[in-house]
Amino acid sequence: MSDDARTVHAENAVGWDETASWYARRAEDLRELLASGGSTLQPQEHRLLGMLPPLGTWCDLAVHLQCAAGFDTVSLTNAGARRAVGVDIAPELVRNARSLAAQVGAPAEFVCSDVLTLDGLDGQADLVYTGKGAVHWMFDLRAWAGKVAAVLRPGGWFLLFDFHPMMWMFREGDTGLEVNPVSYFAPVVTYHGWSQGHLGGADGVEGGTSPKKLRPWPPSGVIQALLGAGLELKLFHEYPDTLAEQWTAYPRTPHRDRARIASTYAVLARKPDA
Ligand SMILES: C[S@@+](CC[C@H](N)C(=O)[O-])C[C@H]1O[C@@H](n2cnc3c(N)ncnc32)[C@H](O)[C@@H]1O
Repeated sequence: MSDDARTVHAENAVGWDETASWYARRAEDLRELLASGGSTLQPQEHRLLGMLPPLGTWCDLAVHLQCAAGFDTVSLTNAGARRAVGVDIAPELVRNARSLAAQVGAPAEFVCSDVLTLDGLDGQADLVYTGKGAVHWMFDLRAWAGKVAAVLRPGGWFLLFDFHPMMWMFREGDTGLEVNPVSYFAPVVTYHGWSQGHLGGADGVEGGTSPKKLRPWPPSGVIQALLGAGLELKLFHEYPDTLAEQWTAYPRTPHRDRARIASTYAVLARKPDA
């Protein structure tokens, strides 16, 4: 990992810990759903997983990178993974995730680590999953893809379903979507505090003042990094107007305009057999 990535990631971790109370409240709302076998994975994610054989038949271990408070990690076990390990850099969120898994009785464990320095899981995962606000927090894409490939066992699957960088190209103006003055190819976006557009415009993420930097990588860069790490690409898909939470900063933008740009994308890749 580059020194720059190490520094930025450590700063971002402080910002993410500021969201712990918001995630804790959300966990209360979701506890019953997750305890009864339900899921916070999106329909698109279920459809993508549905392209593979049922998880219960092959997935002994799912590793969820950037798991936040563990909702989707638990959901993966509800979807059939026999065990899941969630990884996140923010200690308070990892504590939340452990508590949720214990309360709902899920076979899920959690590791507090930067994805790029994750230790002890190499070669073990049948499935690595990440998404919904993940890759753009990685400041060293080559190291990230290398870690994804390292954690997978030969023949294992990688699934990403994430926000499309096109979302950072626009803001809502008086007359509709206006173009932001950033490059699609190399934007670095800095936030102070938690803005409307974060966490679905969540109320109650108070006191967040620490700077956070993100890097909305174009999908071409993400795919190229995965290919460079030796994975085989099986699917790439872009979706319009996908997640309501992505549009909270654009409340007046009608669905016909939302449908004109990609808001999420998916990558399904496989590590070759040994
Ligand atoms: C938008 S949240 C992910 C939310 C999750 N997909 C969900 O739906 O609940 C992004 C997460 O990435 C984590 N994160 C950011 N940088 C990281 C890094 N370098 N290593 C591990 N986790 C990181 C943050 O702590 C945060 O929990």
